[in-house]
Parts: sequence; structure tokens; C-alpha cells
Amino acid sequence: MFKELQSKVNAILSNADSSIENRLQAVCELLKTTVPHYDWVGFYFKNGDKEELKLGPYAGKPTDHTIIPFGKGICGQVAISNQNFVVPDVSAQDNYIACSITVKSEIVVPLFLNGQNVGQIDIDSNTPDPFTGQDERFLEFVNQNVAKIIQGYLE
Ligand code: SME
Repeated sequence: MFKELQSKVNAILSNADSSIENRLQAVCELLKTTVPHYDWVGFYFKNGDKEELKLGPYAGKPTDHTIIPFGKGICGQVAISNQNFVVPDVSAQDNYIACSITVKSEIVVPLFLNGQNVGQIDIDSNTPDPFTGQDERFLEFVNQNVAKIIQGYLE
């Protein structure tokens, strides 16, 4: 599944006729509709010079958490740690921001541009403990390819 998705992701991201916003949106939709255990898929990016994340394109239910301070929740922790954060059971996390009561697990993978942690992809799942190393490798691939096109988008 992830192998096929990689070429589809690249096709979307390299479509210069579409805005960056629309390309990222299309990637979120693709991942959410294709991967059974992806129930909410979104990008957060560093909000200018502020120590906070701002919600970018996403697929799934609207969330109240459009701004997340660094350090807060799983997303805010990844903004500081620069590490993937796999949460098999969100109820076991103290520093967690709940978006929906149906969510059981979460994965957040940082997005690096020129070596800087500039954002992340965040996936919520209604399935307990669904994420493996395959998800991590795939989402790292997505972020590496997003990084190639977002230089101007973040300025
Ligand atoms: N659960 C995240 C907040 C973002 S929502 O999942 C969309 C967190 O704890 O940072």
C-alpha cells in the first residue's frame, strides 16, 4: 500500500499547476481515504517567528486546535524534540491535546527544511496501536518530498 502511495504522493506534489496549499490538501485527502487506520491527516507549520504551530491543510473533522504552543500536546513536543512521536494509546499520555473522543492513537513526524524543524504531519487514528515502522518511513518520505516544494510557501 505505501509503495503505491509514494508515487501518487509524488505525482500530487510535483503538479506545478496546483497551488502548494491545494497540493498539501490533496496529499491529506489521499492518505486519509487510502490508509484504513488514518482518520485525520493534517500538516502543522511553525507560525512565523513564534514558538507555536499553526494548522495548515488537513483532511478530517475540523479541529479547535489551529494554534498549538511549542511543548504542548504531542505536536508541540515534536516541535521541540525533532523526533517522530508514535502514540499507541492516547489515554496513556499526560501531555496530550484531545481533538475527538473517537481518537485512540496518533503519530506525528517532523518536517525538516534545510535541516530546520519547520512543521510536521499529524495523523489521528480511531484504531488502537496501528502504527508501525512502515508508517514512520512512509511519513518521513512524504515530509521529505513536501520539503522540496514549500520553501516559498512558509515565507
Ligand atoms: N492531538 C494533538 C493535537 C492535534 S489534533 O490531533 C488534530 C496533540 O496532542 O498535539
